[in-house]
Amino acid sequence: MFRVEINGNITETNKSKNLLEYLRDDLDLTSAKNGCREGACGTCMVIVDGRAIKACVLKTDKLEGKKITTLEGLSQRERDVFAYAFTETGAVQCGFCIPGMVMSATALFLKTLEPTKDQVKKALVGNICRCTGYVKIEEAIVMSAEIMRTEREIPKRECKGMVGSHVHRIDGPGKAVGEGTYAEDIKIDGMYYGSAVRSEYPRARVLSIDAREAEAMEGVLKVVTAADVPGLNNIGHLSFISDWDTLIPVGEVTRYRGDAVALVAAKDKETLEAAKKLVRVEYEVLTPVLTIEEAKAEDAPKIHEKGNLLFHQTLTRGDVEKAIAESKHVVTHTYNTPATEHAYLEPESATALPTEDGIQLYTSSQSVYDEQREVSRLLGLEPNQVRVTSTLVGGGFGGKEDMSVQHHAGLLAYVLQKPVQVTLTRQESIYVSTKRHAMEIEMTTACDENGMLTAMKATILSDTGAYSSLGGPVLQRACTHASGPYNYHNIEVDGKAYYTNNSPGGAFRGFGVTQSAFATESNINKLAELVGISAWEIRHKNAIRPGQVLPNGQIADAGTGLVETLEAVKDEFDNNKYAGLSCAFKNAGIGVGLPDIGKCRLTVIEGKVHLRTSAACIGQGVGTVNLQMLCQTTGIDPVDVVVETPDTHVTPNTGTTTASRQTVFTGEAVRVAALELKKALNGKTLTDLNGYDHTGEYSGVTDKMGIDKENPESHIAYGYATQLVVLDDNGKLKKVVAAHDVGKAINPKSVEGQIEGGVVMGLGYALTEVMPFENGMPQVKFGTLGLLRATQVPEIKSLIVEKNTEELAYGAKGVGEIVVIPTAPAVQGAYYKFDGEFRTELPLKRTAYRK
Ligand code: FES
Ligand code: FES
Repeated sequence: MFRVEINGNITETNKSKNLLEYLRDDLDLTSAKNGCREGACGTCMVIVDGRAIKACVLKTDKLEGKKITTLEGLSQRERDVFAYAFTETGAVQCGFCIPGMVMSATALFLKTLEPTKDQVKKALVGNICRCTGYVKIEEAIVMSAEIMRTEREIPKRECKGMVGSHVHRIDGPGKAVGEGTYAEDIKIDGMYYGSAVRSEYPRARVLSIDAREAEAMEGVLKVVTAADVPGLNNIGHLSFISDWDTLIPVGEVTRYRGDAVALVAAKDKETLEAAKKLVRVEYEVLTPVLTIEEAKAEDAPKIHEKGNLLFHQTLTRGDVEKAIAESKHVVTHTYNTPATEHAYLEPESATALPTEDGIQLYTSSQSVYDEQREVSRLLGLEPNQVRVTSTLVGGGFGGKEDMSVQHHAGLLAYVLQKPVQVTLTRQESIYVSTKRHAMEIEMTTACDENGMLTAMKATILSDTGAYSSLGGPVLQRACTHASGPYNYHNIEVDGKAYYTNNSPGGAFRGFGVTQSAFATESNINKLAELVGISAWEIRHKNAIRPGQVLPNGQIADAGTGLVETLEAVKDEFDNNKYAGLSCAFKNAGIGVGLPDIGKCRLTVIEGKVHLRTSAACIGQGVGTVNLQMLCQTTGIDPVDVVVETPDTHVTPNTGTTTASRQTVFTGEAVRVAALELKKALNGKTLTDLNGYDHTGEYSGVTDKMGIDKENPESHIAYGYATQLVVLDDNGKLKKVVAAHDVGKAINPKSVEGQIEGGVVMGLGYALTEVMPFENGMPQVKFGTLGLLRATQVPEIKSLIVEKNTEELAYGAKGVGEIVVIPTAPAVQGAYYKFDGEFRTELPLKRTAYRK
């Protein structure tokens, strides 16, 4: 028997347990989160005898006589201070890392309530945040210390919820003190645990699956294989390319190491792991296709029936060859960008339970309707027989658009008629989840003697891995944005995405543009040098201005603010010796003629407006933005609004959280619905309107790719940006200045948070993040991904440019993705100035961060 003191109570365990599991599973203390269970992320931080320690590296048998405190054990005053300070500073995004941050801060406060900036950074060295860039978390900790030190009253922020004002995030306080419910926090009586047996080889034929020994084990419910699938075994994020097997059937060939071959359900996690080892799978090992070169070869094995070329995109405008031949300066380089891990702090988890005629699914994803579509297909059910309800989402960045665990949880629950939870371990998440596409880009860019751009020609090759996911659209965006946001009109792009037996590429913040912008912007720096002008001047000369025509033919609208972003960083560029610069543009919305609809249902119940949309908040704060749209339009007080969670049986389908679209598309739908509510109010009270139920809609109409039109409208809006990266005399990051044209900042704190977080993600992409593959398998652990820590992050100055006066969504243009696009080329430019080496591969080599 082991005795452990937790939050002042003595508890007893009869066997030694991992402390994190003991806290979460046995004691229901779920503020400690399971981000990795390998001591690398800090989401499980607790205080042991006054020191911040990760619970997942402790065992209960070593804790006798020690005092352990979790966030639940802090005083009400401490919890209230943290809830206020983290919300007031905008430090909470997805929130999954925040309870761990709060515990590290609490340990620091035991030493000092007047911490310096350095002390705060050092206190956070064991905590990773993938969303915020740490800036606002550090501010929150300093503010918390000050309130505690001065014992002053916690201020109240009065707010009317107006657009453009500092509205507290609706989910901030709960997330800050660990009260938010994430997918793995769901517990249902009689719940079983499920997990997949995965392929041992990137490419092998499954000859047989023997589950007898596993199923004979006490506590094992059943082993499910493809033969048990009641509907269609193949799923796919784009329903017209459903090429992803839920389970690889006997006789079929695996496509990557993350492929699931069988699913096991057991009464507890220990039994589950033991049973998985007893599932005997016999394989015929086949030679894998591991590079684009191999995939292209005439005699290459076909990974999918139709061959290894997933998608081919060409774009041509003007006469490129002639323009290049007549140009004064021409540069050509080949660039390589790697696959990278999303590294959201919350590993994938889903819980499903049987209902009368189908299933109920609780998940953490980027669209409950995508899940409903894919899982109902798999189970052979009508969509309305699969009800999907979202929990909080601990980060996504595009990586939670594809099915990972939802379909497996749904299948187990439906076949076994029991509640089942499936959660990936961190390592499994790394092996299974989609990645940012690795690309090889050969690019030629030309200009005249004054530095005016004349032409660009590129070939882009994308490794889309084992399954299509969004490999086609990602490549398409890489191609459509390869010109950069400049005023020239001769472009030729040829892009191809190939299947390989590597991890599938999928949506990742930036959506292909992160890759092509590295080539575009680096080439432009070279041209500036040949002309003899600065990196700022060449961009300022060529920057797209309102009324001019983008290289894709679209006319830049009056709200185009690229020049303003350049001018915002001019002084910093002039005053710093090693300053690298990059511009970017990124579409808001899916565009290119595809259906793109935002919807909002407003229902009045007992004098409150229930704001119902299925827009997934993956950290960006869309619920609060929608609240602001509603309050601005109607004048209703925020206390009279209930923002509901996405649920396919209650909230209308407003599309996936992708393509920086939710603020614009769902935001506009909220505005449209709110205008109707305002009309209905007309002197009445909300209570008078009880029973009111109305759905507003906004549909973005755009032109198809390849349409025969001089000035097609490919996207309803573009955001623009300029980022500046400054190195110190030792070649270390000193400062980043990020100026972003966001149209209109609906919630300025949230916009700053997006910028700071995106910049840090971009710095990691540029300098530290690595993901080598061996035989199709990522050779990394969470702790070796190279994610930047608080102590490595330089000063970040975010500048918001607001120029758009469109009525649509109050002028917002979306900011989620563009924040990460210009960072890596700006870092490259800074190093080029620093040591004269023109680097063409990410992450950059021979820097202070990577030898
Ligand atoms: S869960 Fe403990 S450090 Fe990640
Ligand atoms: S808020 Fe830190 S990981 Fe999301």
